[in-house]
Amino acid sequence: MSTLVTGATGMVGRRILTQLRSRGLSATGASRTSQTRLDWTDTSNWDELLDGVKSVFVVTPVGSALGNRVAGFLEKAAGAGVGNAVVMTAMGTEYAPSDSDQRAAELRAKDLFGRWTVLRSNWLFQDFTEGTFASMARARNGRLELPVKKRTAISFVDARDVADVAVSALLDDHSGREYTLTGPQAHTFREVVKQTRGTESPVWRFKAVDEAGFYFRATDRGWGERYVDTLNERFAAAVAGRAAEVTEDVRAALRRDPIPLARFVREAVL
Ligand SMILES: NC(=O)c1ccc[n+]([C@@H]2O[C@H](COP(=O)([O-])OP(=O)(O)OC[C@H]3O[C@@H](n4cnc5c(N)ncnc54)[C@H](OP(=O)(O)O)[C@@H]3O)[C@@H](O)[C@H]2O)c1
Repeated sequence: MSTLVTGATGMVGRRILTQLRSRGLSATGASRTSQTRLDWTDTSNWDELLDGVKSVFVVTPVGSALGNRVAGFLEKAAGAGVGNAVVMTAMGTEYAPSDSDQRAAELRAKDLFGRWTVLRSNWLFQDFTEGTFASMARARNGRLELPVKKRTAISFVDARDVADVAVSALLDDHSGREYTLTGPQAHTFREVVKQTRGTESPVWRFKAVDEAGFYFRATDRGWGERYVDTLNERFAAAVAGRAAEVTEDVRAALRRDPIPLARFVREAVL
């Protein structure tokens, strides 16, 4: 029984692959830059990729207008005999319009597969070390400038917890479950930056900026308008307090506590 992991070079996909392989399970990682190539904009090798696959982990890139492509991939996967789909989206996606990229992937998976699980993750701690926040700070001498308020708090979750839940959903039966994955506590950006300073995080300072200021900085970096708009929507949701909720879902799925900021910091020491 083989598993196909999309977003294989990403923060969660990479960790899922490592885990599956360390258990001696057959797993293929695919993305544009992986050894096994998967590009959501190119369907030419999808039949080959799906041959013999029984479970898929699917992430839709953020703000990329690729929702229809990913939905098409899910259709092909179901047609090829894949029985289990684990779809990662973002906290709050259940409230997004049904034709938005990530909500469309959730809905297609529910329609098409005998077994499906939806993982709606909050922002990751690893955004400070490997993801969006790290890359923004690297380009601005360690300064992270985001359109949130000083008091905006987020229940950041560790990518290892998301990967653990995904692996469990790929291997065990979490079918029909929709998990909103958060850490055990909400933190402001200032708190996280204070604690991660001096670790492998390149973020040294945090500054709250307005939406226009963020838009200017982000597009100046060459980020696409749609991606920046999606980030702005997520920051607006955080400012409205909708990313601060702490859920029990990591505990429900794994029967253990989610990883707290202090442990993430301890283990991200250079
Ligand atoms: N980061 C967070 O805090 C966070 C929070 C909540 C939800 N999420 C969700 O998690 C998912 C990934 O988030 P992220 O962007 O932060 O992850 P990421 O770790 O940067 O991973 C994105 C992955 O998608 C692949 N990818 C990008 N464009 C692709 C394309 N055209 N075709 C095939 N693969 C492509 C990338 O690999 P290649 O470049 O090799 O193609 C990479 O492996 C998204 O659905 C996002 O909404 C993330």
